[in-house]
Amino acid sequence: MPKIAPAYRDTSAPSYQEVIKHDPRPAPALFTAYSEAAIDVPGVPRSQYTSPEFAQAELERMWPRVWQVACREEQIPETGDLVVYHSPGASLLIVRSGPDEIKAFYNSCLHRGMQLCAHDTSVQKLTCPFHGFAWNLDGSLAHVPARWDFPQLEEAKFNLPEARTGRWGGFVFINRDPDAAPLEDYLANLPEHFADWPRESVYLAQMIHKTMNANWKTCIEGFIESFHLAGIHSQALPFGGDASTQYDVWPGNETISRFLEPVGVQSDQYPRRLNEQEILEASLATVFGGSEFPQLPKDMRARTFLATATRQAMSAADGRDYSTLSDTEAADAMQYSVFPNFVLFRSLTYPYAYRFTPVRDNPNQAVFDFMIFKPKPQDGSPVPETEHVDLGPGDSFAACGALPPWLGQIYDQDSVGLAMCQAGLRDGGTAGVMFSAYQEVRIRHLHQTLARYLAMPPL
Ligand code: FES
Ligand SMILES: [Fe+2]
Repeated sequence: MPKIAPAYRDTSAPSYQEVIKHDPRPAPALFTAYSEAAIDVPGVPRSQYTSPEFAQAELERMWPRVWQVACREEQIPETGDLVVYHSPGASLLIVRSGPDEIKAFYNSCLHRGMQLCAHDTSVQKLTCPFHGFAWNLDGSLAHVPARWDFPQLEEAKFNLPEARTGRWGGFVFINRDPDAAPLEDYLANLPEHFADWPRESVYLAQMIHKTMNANWKTCIEGFIESFHLAGIHSQALPFGGDASTQYDVWPGNETISRFLEPVGVQSDQYPRRLNEQEILEASLATVFGGSEFPQLPKDMRARTFLATATRQAMSAADGRDYSTLSDTEAADAMQYSVFPNFVLFRSLTYPYAYRFTPVRDNPNQAVFDFMIFKPKPQDGSPVPETEHVDLGPGDSFAACGALPPWLGQIYDQDSVGLAMCQAGLRDGGTAGVMFSAYQEVRIRHLHQTLARYLAMPPL
């Protein structure tokens, strides 16, 4: 018999596999498998979240070697379009250098170092605003002011330095390590898991940039487990599926992990047993408010009702036909992460991705880039420009209008909770932090991979 959960799991909540087994629209094979790997990282010193020295080690040893999402292809549709990506430790210009070519240049002039671009823009040449040195879009030197005054300059050796680029699913990745394995290797099983969920078919409609009062790891770790539902989002305990969530890591796979969080399943931490009608009503009341609720047909589970309603609502909203989609893909939160800082959903309800980057010289802050996707127009017409929303540490997701109010409230709860977590890590003595074996296995996975990079020499 295939494994459906860890052998030591001991809770009244059904496992994800037991939940989806009864779905009228069966899950694809991708979701009927459970995978585990022994990860011997029971905890880490708290200084990994708070010390400038540890952040510096990450900056020198990890960030220059990993593939990172820099932007989306549709953000730079025309030759000359560029996005400025402030990667940790290196500002890069992600440039559409030809119809099917994207390059990443270090955002610094080879004369006296000035940043070439401060903002996303569209150019014919990369011209330095200080004295006017200029480069073509392929990185070759285009213009030297007062050429006579630089007798030492050799044109052929004066190309703009580049980082590597890679593309998958409409995302543009960069890597600063010339010797890194190709993106295809790095992404491991991710492309296979998204083969029927192509991210090229969506565009980045909105991006919320939120400054978080927490280390980048504190942040991502708070989003890749459902264990904190009872503490931070207790309003979702009647239907949130926290204790039924499946966490997968794969032996030998250092970059990808996932969770599968079913909706319409009560938590084992809710104080009493609910019937399906009560689960449905708690869910609808949280998402839509109100006090009048439909009656579940006899023998129908709340999650079946929610999956059906989601298929209909999202088909109407997107102008697509989702009527044959499995219940779990329609209703549940299927969430993948790519080491170190990227999270991508594969579900109808959550067309989102997250990216977390450290704030320079401050291990107690990070930037949370929250990406919201919409289907591309089916007639091939150009997609609208990405709308950017900037939120400071005290600003609210719920008030910014980019998310449904109930979901904005969830992210506000996370923002406040993660800031408290960081404050505790920073000022709470010297005891280490401890990770659970299963529900926090993705956090163990992250630290295991991070430790491998930190054992390397600075790059
Ligand atoms: S620093 Fe760029 S042209 Fe002088
Ligand atoms: Fe949360």
